[in-house]
Amino acid sequence: MPSSSTANSSIFYGAVINPTSLTTYSASPRCLLAIDATGNIDWLEEDVEPHALQDTLASRGYIDAQVIPLKDGEFIIPGFIDTHTHAPQVPNMGTGGQYELLDWLKYVTFPTESKFEDISFAQKTYKSVVRRVIDSGTTTCCYYGTLHLEATKVLADVVSSYGQRAFVGKCNMNRESPPHYIEPSSDTSISDTRQLISYIRNLSKPTLTSKQEPLVQPILTPRFAISCTDDLLSSLGELAASEPNLRIQTHISENKSEISFTGSLFPAASHYAGVYDMFGLLRSNTILAHAVHLTQEEISLIKEKNAGISHCPTSNFNLNSGIAPIGLYLDKGIKVGLGTDVSGGFQISILNTIQNACIAAKVCALQAQSDPKHDPSTPGFANKPLPIATLLYLATMGGAAVCGLQNQIGSFAPGKSFDALLVNIREESGNIGIWGLSESEPFQDLDSQRKRLDNWLEKFLFCGDDRNISRVYVQGNLMGGRSYRQ
Ligand code: GUN
Ligand code: FE
Repeated sequence: MPSSSTANSSIFYGAVINPTSLTTYSASPRCLLAIDATGNIDWLEEDVEPHALQDTLASRGYIDAQVIPLKDGEFIIPGFIDTHTHAPQVPNMGTGGQYELLDWLKYVTFPTESKFEDISFAQKTYKSVVRRVIDSGTTTCCYYGTLHLEATKVLADVVSSYGQRAFVGKCNMNRESPPHYIEPSSDTSISDTRQLISYIRNLSKPTLTSKQEPLVQPILTPRFAISCTDDLLSSLGELAASEPNLRIQTHISENKSEISFTGSLFPAASHYAGVYDMFGLLRSNTILAHAVHLTQEEISLIKEKNAGISHCPTSNFNLNSGIAPIGLYLDKGIKVGLGTDVSGGFQISILNTIQNACIAAKVCALQAQSDPKHDPSTPGFANKPLPIATLLYLATMGGAAVCGLQNQIGSFAPGKSFDALLVNIREESGNIGIWGLSESEPFQDLDSQRKRLDNWLEKFLFCGDDRNISRVYVQGNLMGGRSYRQ
């Protein structure tokens, strides 16, 4: 009995793009995509000719089903996954680019974050931030809050009330921070963290039947090694050990001064990754942001622990941190997703991160060309530009794997959640004149239509913006996008 014969299910018919591997995606101009009443994908069938539509539906047990037809110039892709951002830094986004990391934290970031002690400021700010993140096409987001328990509860409330999928954490930071923005002790930090975890877990209604994880989940957030004493990291490690499914997010090896300072604070660790490992914080559900300057030893350790890397190229350029060798990490089989790292990064949209990930890989490739030992015919991703399929994968499936949600989101498959964007490149989007839509011909063969869709995807990734994101769905719920706002 198909669950989608229920009243609340929906069936889309039209162009669908679906990442299938690091190097492939399917572009189906005439896909039937059925969502069940719980917001999961029931089934999908590619290349259904219009004349075969009713028969296909009937063969699936759908009689008189309501089909939502996509227009020419509309297509569906999986929602974007931002594996690393700081919600309280949005107010200073687009400033401070003259600094490198440690001064930027001191002069720009910590002063802004300290304002979130004021709950009404937190409420007002987080409402607009989360709305904007959603409308930019981010269906799943890994949020850092501030060190404040109450303000971070507010962030979780807002995310939950808007229906976004997210991980929300409060920063642990009890040293090397300014006097007005520091936790008084390791005990306070742990106690507030525990309270936030319970609070967030109580936000979601338990669904006994569902094997899926709740939309909003807590995440341990030791800000970075520098800001945590041994004692605090050790207690966080104990907490993590008692909760194997609890995700962990932190920063690693972003900036050279940061790396040497970390070394001086943790003389017993052989390297930066070793600090987290020493305290039991490096595991398969740890999300490591940046990873710009890792040593071979650290790369091997991260692979061995199956931790994920959040690639934050906009931030890495903006704070002059460097270029992460993402191709190399992919060749090693390390999980990689994308992170906006606002406000190290100056844009909320993952589209901007995709663009900078593309440029970062090209700069790596250019640098490699000047090495006489470089052989461009070597297979793999290292020192080469990243193909469109790879960029799409990093923004969707790659992010899902980094979050430990690869069986639930990131692509379209039966049983997965329908977390998706309806992209609209038609004139009414307002982002006009670049799409070549008028070249459309209804009698085009399937192959030409596929190529046209490939072209739309590439243009959307590089020239698109939130005007082109018409609808945003999380778990089948329409909860954002341009047409949702109007
Ligand atoms: N390292 C510690 N805190 C931060 C932060 O807020 N942003 C970035 N980019 N790096 C950090
Ligand atoms: Fe960050």
